[in-house]
Amino acid sequence: MVVFKPIMCADVVKTEQGAQPSQRLGGRVAVVTGGGRGLGRVAACALAAAGAKVAILGRQRESLEETAAQIRTAGGIALAVPADVTQEADLQAAAAVVKAQLGDCQILVNNAGAAMVRPFLETDTASLRSLLDVNLVGALLTARIFGAQMTERRWGRLINMASIAGMVGEPNLAVYSASKGALIALTKALAIEWARYGVTVNALAPGYFRTDLNAQAFDNPEIEGRLLKKIPLRRAGEPAELAPLLVYLASEDSAFMTGSVLVIDGGQVAR
Ligand SMILES: NC(=O)c1ccc[n+]([C@@H]2O[C@H](COP(=O)([O-])OP(=O)(O)OC[C@H]3O[C@@H](n4cnc5c(N)ncnc54)[C@H](OP(=O)(O)O)[C@@H]3O)[C@@H](O)[C@H]2O)c1
Repeated sequence: MVVFKPIMCADVVKTEQGAQPSQRLGGRVAVVTGGGRGLGRVAACALAAAGAKVAILGRQRESLEETAAQIRTAGGIALAVPADVTQEADLQAAAAVVKAQLGDCQILVNNAGAAMVRPFLETDTASLRSLLDVNLVGALLTARIFGAQMTERRWGRLINMASIAGMVGEPNLAVYSASKGALIALTKALAIEWARYGVTVNALAPGYFRTDLNAQAFDNPEIEGRLLKKIPLRRAGEPAELAPLLVYLASEDSAFMTGSVLVIDGGQVAR
């Protein structure tokens, strides 16, 4: 059984010894869905270390509290807000809590997601709907609810966690790929629709990163070997490697970038 090293804020944010933490996002309010673990924890820790006040949404209170505790230990501001992204009422309640305790959302990382590896012809309708519900409908609802606050304030950063699976085909990933391809299309459409409000919309398209999402694949040496062969750099990404890109997309530095898809995959789709 492969046991991934738990993601810790302290590993995500590497400051030079003695240097002050960055304040590039000074006081901005960020919301990260699925921030209790995996790449969402990386996003929450990285944004907080850059000075944002971060609300962490997800279903499991314990993991949300753990991320928030790590951020506070590092001197940041974090709020754990239990919410299922497939439930509109949860998201509306979360938006009200975030607004009351931190202020209007200015940065949204639409990260919550799940994977399904299965031949398409063996995919039952319930599983298909449930994956699209989390990966696509959840992202749409979250973008609409928190996007209203960003457009009203005439400043915002929406970052959608897509995947290279939304750009290139792979067997047994049809429904996951469909959900991520739709997120990329959503990114471009909202970038155009919200440009007039000063809200930029970009997507990250990671390749394989070591998280719970693909632990089963990395657990199997044969599958792991096959996956690594597809990656020119011959390794999976370390979750912390996403941190600088997330902070860049959330910051003023990326003001002229919207509708873009940033690939970070060890060269996999460059072949
Ligand atoms: N790891 C990779 O290689 C990779 C590559 C490309 C793209 N991605 C994308 O990156 C995102 C994060 O993936 P990960 O690797 O960090 O996966 P992970 O470790 O499995 O984490 C998934 C996160 O999503 C949350 N989540 C799932 N269903 C939810 C729901 N209904 N409502 C609210 N939160 C929900 C989970 O929190 P709770 O269980 O607490 O709800 C958890 O925090 C996903 O969108 C994934 O598709 C990952």
